[in-house]
Amino acid sequence: MTSGALVDEPLVLGIETSCDETGIGVVRGHTLLADAVASSVEEHARFGGVVPEVASRAHLEAMVPTIERACEESGIKLHDVDAIAVTSGPGLAGALLVGVAAAKALALGLDKPIYGVNHLASHVAVDQLQHGPLPEPCVAMLVSGGHSSLLKVTDITEGVDPMGATIDDAAGEAFDKVARLLGLGFPGGPVIDRTATSGSSIAIDFPRGLSSRRDLERHRFDFSFSGLKTAVARWIEAKERSGEPVPVADVAASFQEAVVDVLVRKALDAASSEGIEDIIIGGGVAANSRLRVLAEERATKLGIRVRVPRPGLCTDNGAMVAALGAEMVARGRTPSALDLPADSSQPITTVLV
Ligand code: KG4
Ligand code: ZN
Repeated sequence: MTSGALVDEPLVLGIETSCDETGIGVVRGHTLLADAVASSVEEHARFGGVVPEVASRAHLEAMVPTIERACEESGIKLHDVDAIAVTSGPGLAGALLVGVAAAKALALGLDKPIYGVNHLASHVAVDQLQHGPLPEPCVAMLVSGGHSSLLKVTDITEGVDPMGATIDDAAGEAFDKVARLLGLGFPGGPVIDRTATSGSSIAIDFPRGLSSRRDLERHRFDFSFSGLKTAVARWIEAKERSGEPVPVADVAASFQEAVVDVLVRKALDAASSEGIEDIIIGGGVAANSRLRVLAEERATKLGIRVRVPRPGLCTDNGAMVAALGAEMVARGRTPSALDLPADSSQPITTVLV
């Protein structure tokens, strides 16, 4: 698959609408020129989670103004771009459709190639906007509201090899659910991160999922967070029953430590098992301050390098899609057909449709 036109520093506009962020990014090669994001998160807050129909409608309303903002920010004209990239999946079906339809309209109107790319692979590719070319091979740990996986990446434009994944809740989902238990609101990750700074991470010994010797035999690189969530719920219930106040900051810090401890341990084990010296962490949960510190601390001891994009690039955005699109163009991959589908369950092994 190397029949696309080779362009050294392609100028690519990326469109991301897989969940509740309308993201439009403009990238030249590895250089970020614009990252315009319109979020509908506040419209979902009172429901405690993203409502797909509300998200789709918000994408429709935000699409054109956000494209205009990205063009203004980057100082480009739409007809300057070499290609349009868009998240084709995975994600919410209706939300994806809005982005894919917009990308098709632009590609057709401007007569430019279109690249339908994988949302998860984009979370990995975005790192090169901050830290330069991706180290390949590397192990990528993707931790977001919908996914938690460990991947081996040899060529991000060709595909990735799954090493492990969550067997129940995603890491971000666990943050969101525990925040709800603590009455901290939605989305849970950022508020737990902030609340945890005034609590003790060793106050409560919450369980580390799939970490016993027996579990490691079958699930060495897999994650499980649903038992942890239940343990937190039970702990809070017991406190409330006894009439004592719930030490919210301690629960947040101890819960966060339980998640982050397992994530870091398994990512390092995955890299070591493959003799790989570079780890990239991506997805919304990669914005977590404790995860960033602990990963760096433990990796340094093992001589492993960890790259985590700045928090604004970890959560959903259009720049990540443009970054992967630019890589597709630079490595001469064949563009997608103009009738490319939006695939809500696009597998991680399919990085380009
Ligand atoms: O990648 P993302 O923006 O959207 C998905 O593709 O899911 O990830 C959103 C998830 C949410 O569950 C949110 O609570 C979590 O990332 N998140 C965090 C932090 N910031 C966002 N989790 C822990 N700590 C954070 N600082
Ligand atoms: Zn995401």
